[in-house]
Amino acid sequence: MTPLLQRIGIRLAIIQAPMAGTSTPQLAAAVTNAGGLGSISLGSVDVAGARDMLAALRRLTGGPVNVNLFCHRPARAHPDREAGWLAALAPEFARFGSHPPERIGEIYRSLVADPEMLGAVLEARPAVVSFHFGLPPQDAIDRLKATGAVLLSTATSLAEGEAAVRAGVDAVVAQGWEAGGHRGVFDPTANDAQLGAAPLTRLLVTRLPVPVIAAGGLMDGAGVAAVLALGAAAAQLGTAFVGCPESGADASHRAALFGSGASATEMTSLISGRPARCLANSFTRLKAGPLGQAPPPDYPIAYDAGKALAAAARSKGDGGYGAHWAGQGAPLARPLPAADLMATLAGELAEARTTLLRA
Ligand SMILES: Cc1cc2nc3c(=O)[nH]c(=O)nc-3n(C[C@H](O)[C@H](O)[C@H](O)COP(=O)(O)O)c2cc1C
Repeated sequence: MTPLLQRIGIRLAIIQAPMAGTSTPQLAAAVTNAGGLGSISLGSVDVAGARDMLAALRRLTGGPVNVNLFCHRPARAHPDREAGWLAALAPEFARFGSHPPERIGEIYRSLVADPEMLGAVLEARPAVVSFHFGLPPQDAIDRLKATGAVLLSTATSLAEGEAAVRAGVDAVVAQGWEAGGHRGVFDPTANDAQLGAAPLTRLLVTRLPVPVIAAGGLMDGAGVAAVLALGAAAAQLGTAFVGCPESGADASHRAALFGSGASATEMTSLISGRPARCLANSFTRLKAGPLGQAPPPDYPIAYDAGKALAAAARSKGDGGYGAHWAGQGAPLARPLPAADLMATLAGELAEARTTLLRA
């Protein structure tokens, strides 16, 4: 067992990724109760929603959980950009007898500008707190650290990993280009080297003085064993858990994940305004039209429009415009209850480690 697992208090080197809107308290609790680390994300809820999720978690497990917070630069309104975006989306709304919303806005707040959310997390004292899209102000980090929480930050590059270590995080999540969901880049306008999980993990393991958790395209115990062999202290899996009955994924997301198109994922900013890996669908295909030429509004203002379009389509029975986030390993997803998936992953991991030792 690595010192990181000991410190968190888990037996298995498997972390169920925080997935805003998808990782429910039921999913997180099942993973923690099976010996791994379950996670919830507070990135898409307000403080009341966060308090409800934290209370549900407390009822479902007494074990350690990871509470994830979004730390993006708060959205700035650009009225011209937003108007251009809505105009480009109008023909899609028209297909469903609908119109784009008149106004779109910042539907989720960043922790960077949400002291109430910080207060709710400080009060709940989760065993682990993780940051995505950047880091909160130093004062927030210091206060969370003072609760005894183990702090994690996503990093997609060495520079982001170094910044996280300087700020005092305890371990870094190396998120490879293969990963499903939002890419955790601190600055989505900066050049992105698009490192895969294996080279990024090795880079961070060799250069950073803290444990590294590998993420991206890991779907089974063999994948987990592979990143442990690369020096990771644990593996973080998102897409592998999307198909569990305890996840919050809707029917169209599940159908896409287990459908014949699961091997086609795309990195797109069209749905939310930030790059995210999604199963190719009617929304990602809009890049070939006017939307592909228009600069997106800031995250999550663009997401307000994306969610409205998905809802308009859904109201006419078309689920093809949803945020069907998934990583490149999507075709390997299994529709198992979380406890069964954890038992399967643990068995595969033990077997793969034995095979590696024999090799
Ligand atoms: C549906 C979905 C939602 C996600 N939401 C979040 C999130 O809220 N916070 C976060 O830190 N990472 C989020 N991620 C990214 C994961 O933390 C992780 O990097 C990714 O799932 C790893 O790649 P994989 O999906 O191929 O396993 C999400 C991933 C998915 C698939």
